[in-house]
Amino acid sequence: MEKIIVANMKMNLHFDEVNNYLNEFKNYNTSGLVFCPTSIYLPYFLNSNYEVGIQNYAMYENGAYTGEISASQVKSMNINYAIIGHSERREYFEETDNIINKKIKLGLENNLKIILCIGETLNHKENNQTNEILKKQIVEGLKDIKDINNIIIAYEPIWSIGTGLIPTNDEIYDTTNFIKEEINRLYNKDIMVLYGGSVTDENINVLSEINNLSGFLVGGASLKPDKLKRIKETIIY
Ligand code: PGA
Repeated sequence: MEKIIVANMKMNLHFDEVNNYLNEFKNYNTSGLVFCPTSIYLPYFLNSNYEVGIQNYAMYENGAYTGEISASQVKSMNINYAIIGHSERREYFEETDNIINKKIKLGLENNLKIILCIGETLNHKENNQTNEILKKQIVEGLKDIKDINNIIIAYEPIWSIGTGLIPTNDEIYDTTNFIKEEINRLYNKDIMVLYGGSVTDENINVLSEINNLSGFLVGGASLKPDKLKRIKETIIY
């Protein structure tokens, strides 16, 4: 099974730190790693020939949208991946499933590989609503989309992001299976599912035993090259 590690660097690192970061990956085999730095740093990662993704793009095609970046501009830079629907975008930027759906359609039209993030809150989990909420995010996020060949799903429990709390391997396995079954029911196709939420070089050994995952989405730990390398080497050899 093809595996990837997606480094979601969020709104972190200043330019001098980015230069140091890139230096740490010189002469390192980065295959399988997808770097998603803050957008203004993307060209530096592209110049190093690394696989990259953007953390977000506009819900509009192009034109007078000050401060925004379009999916076609992303593609024109040879950026292949995009993270869409991250819970931080849903929460702080009020992205609804409808907005996420519009963005995914624009991304697919431009041949981007979309990493669609879905996940439940602690409240959903405690009320046994995890599958219900994930199903809603899948069905509405992918509404009217016929071809899912370029879709990857990242399962990220919101209560696990940046908290150090992680579901058990069995829980992640079962939820991943549920996501795959839902996609199979809708599209009759298998899909890559990643897990994200407090993944570190310390818990990756245990997480690597979950055999239905196609990789991981790594936030905080991706900011430290040595940690990211250890995570990658545990999953991709
Ligand atoms: P974290 O973030 O690894 O810092 O929990 C993951 C994410 O938000 O993608």
